[in-house]
Amino acid sequence: MVSASVQQYVPALSQFSRELTRADMDRIKQDFVHATGMAASAGFDWLELHCAHGYLLSSFISPLTNLRTDDYGGSLENRLRFPLEVFGAVRAAWPATLPMSVRISAHDWVEGGITPDDAVQIGRAFKAAGADMVDCSSGQVSKLEQPVFGRMFQTPFSDRVRNEAEIATIAVGAISEADHVNSIIAAGRADLCAVARPHLANPAWTMMEAAKIGYFEQAWPKQYLSAKNQLERNLEREKNTLAQTRATNATQLP
Ligand SMILES: Cc1cc2nc3c(=O)[nH]c(=O)nc-3n(C[C@H](O)[C@H](O)[C@H](O)COP(=O)(O)O)c2cc1C
Repeated sequence: MVSASVQQYVPALSQFSRELTRADMDRIKQDFVHATGMAASAGFDWLELHCAHGYLLSSFISPLTNLRTDDYGGSLENRLRFPLEVFGAVRAAWPATLPMSVRISAHDWVEGGITPDDAVQIGRAFKAAGADMVDCSSGQVSKLEQPVFGRMFQTPFSDRVRNEAEIATIAVGAISEADHVNSIIAAGRADLCAVARPHLANPAWTMMEAAKIGYFEQAWPKQYLSAKNQLERNLEREKNTLAQTRATNATQLP
């Protein structure tokens, strides 16, 4: 197992990583380029370079996992050198007409780790390298992390990167209702929202949320269309009943 530096993710349990040599870095960069070519030929229409969650490129960016003393360690500029080199090679191999985003951990949630201030700098660096969007996640870099979870808890990072680095962003993390999505987008805190676990809980989440906010143009699989009509009618009925109850209550107020 290789990483920016020698380290062990879980003390006394995980395997130790070996520090990458320049020859390893060349080989791995070519692997990324090869994977990009395969993704393009398979017909994918969007590529995201993973630089978050302690994965290889993330291990270079965070000072908690990058202890190198060469040109690839030390300052944030140095720590970004290899991730940006890989990004440049991948961007050159990916069709220029198709979008590319970069996923980052915008906060390590550990003293001395990456902070949202750093995330803004990281966003600027990838924007200058030709990224179209930054996908703003956080954490999973160190076992010492103390994240503060809550509804839409990573959206402030997307907000900062979008408005300070002036690059389009994706907000993700505990965004679980269409109303959350709409308020994030309308407030200019992200350009897209990514929704993960709500789709595990309910694979029809998108269709359900669209019906709830009255977006009837949402496409449904043809064989489910009768359910779409029924759902929309039932939600409409609930809304009318609620409105009637409210109106009745209002007339009965002293
Ligand atoms: C089962 C599962 C697997 C995941 N695997 C990955 C992964 O391989 N890479 C990644 O960047 N995020 C992964 N995530 C994180 C999601 O991409 C997302 O950032 C996270 O679940 C927060 O969004 P949510 O609150 O909408 O679920 C995973 C999440 C879940 C629930």
